[in-house]
Amino acid sequence: MTAPPGDWGGGTPPPGDRAGGTAPAGDTAAAAPALALRGVSRHFGALRAVDAVDLSVSAGARHGLIGPNGAGKSTLFRLIAGTLRVSAGTIWLGEQDITGQREYVRARWGISQTLQHSSLFLPLTVEQNAMLAAQRRHGSPGSPWPRRQPVARDRVAELLEAVGLTGRATVTAGELSHGERRQLEIALALACEPRLLLLDEPAAGMSAAEGERLVELIEALPASVTVLIVEHDLDVVFQLASAITVLHLGQVLLTGSPSDVRESAAVREAYLGTADREELFVAPDGA
Ligand SMILES: Nc1ncnc2c1ncn2[C@@H]1O[C@H](COP(=O)(O)OP(=O)(O)OP(=O)(O)O)[C@@H](O)[C@H]1O
Ligand SMILES: [Mg+2]
Repeated sequence: MTAPPGDWGGGTPPPGDRAGGTAPAGDTAAAAPALALRGVSRHFGALRAVDAVDLSVSAGARHGLIGPNGAGKSTLFRLIAGTLRVSAGTIWLGEQDITGQREYVRARWGISQTLQHSSLFLPLTVEQNAMLAAQRRHGSPGSPWPRRQPVARDRVAELLEAVGLTGRATVTAGELSHGERRQLEIALALACEPRLLLLDEPAAGMSAAEGERLVELIEALPASVTVLIVEHDLDVVFQLASAITVLHLGQVLLTGSPSDVRESAAVREAYLGTADREELFVAPDGA
């Protein structure tokens, strides 16, 4: 396997580690990564759910995070979003050390996530769900509680258009198909105007066609939004991501390109026992 560039993690210290503390973390004079983790761990009693993880996500990247069930992916997302405290390690958002910051502060600084399990208001319409999320965008300084703000209908229309739900604005979220619900969840996450979007299994339960649509939707997001995506559908990850980190037993097994991951014996080993996964590692024709 070819060695991954320094800004994919492992080799290069994040900004705070450097003399002066302001130098970029990349392997060139390029911008600091959008997100950097060094030595991040979370233990639950004796269980090391996340164990000394180093990770760098380049600004504007679509970065995949994969690994077998229980590898620690959702726990890592919670550590990044701030809904869970690290046991050890440091997390930077751009050049800012956010390790000690609370969830609502991180949200205001641009971290937004969709959860593995849905969090929509099912009796409300698609438009109303988007409106509420956009209203919660701004909170009072020093307070975790959101302050409602009038939101232009244009903004709601823009959000729904970004996820392909314009024609579904007036139906209730409860009437949406599974795939459409996941699209709406992404719209709600985008309402926070994130610079880092964490997507936890957005394609779960989707049909192949819905998965294709999801890939297009994520590809079409503005480059100002860096995306870290956890996904069991490896086809989706291989299509979308330019860099992929593989977690196994809480540790980083590998960070590399999709072909690095496809060709890695260690990654296959981690997924072994699931014969049907084997075929997902076969490169598509022409790849
Ligand atoms: N709050 C908690 N208390 C105790 N153990 C936990 C807690 N949260 C997660 N774990 C454990 O940490 C490990 C990692 O869980 P996590 O949900 O992060 O895995 P995952 O990679 O997201 O798995 P999946 O692909 O099934 O979603 C698992 O063994 C899980 O049981
Ligand atoms: Mg999970």
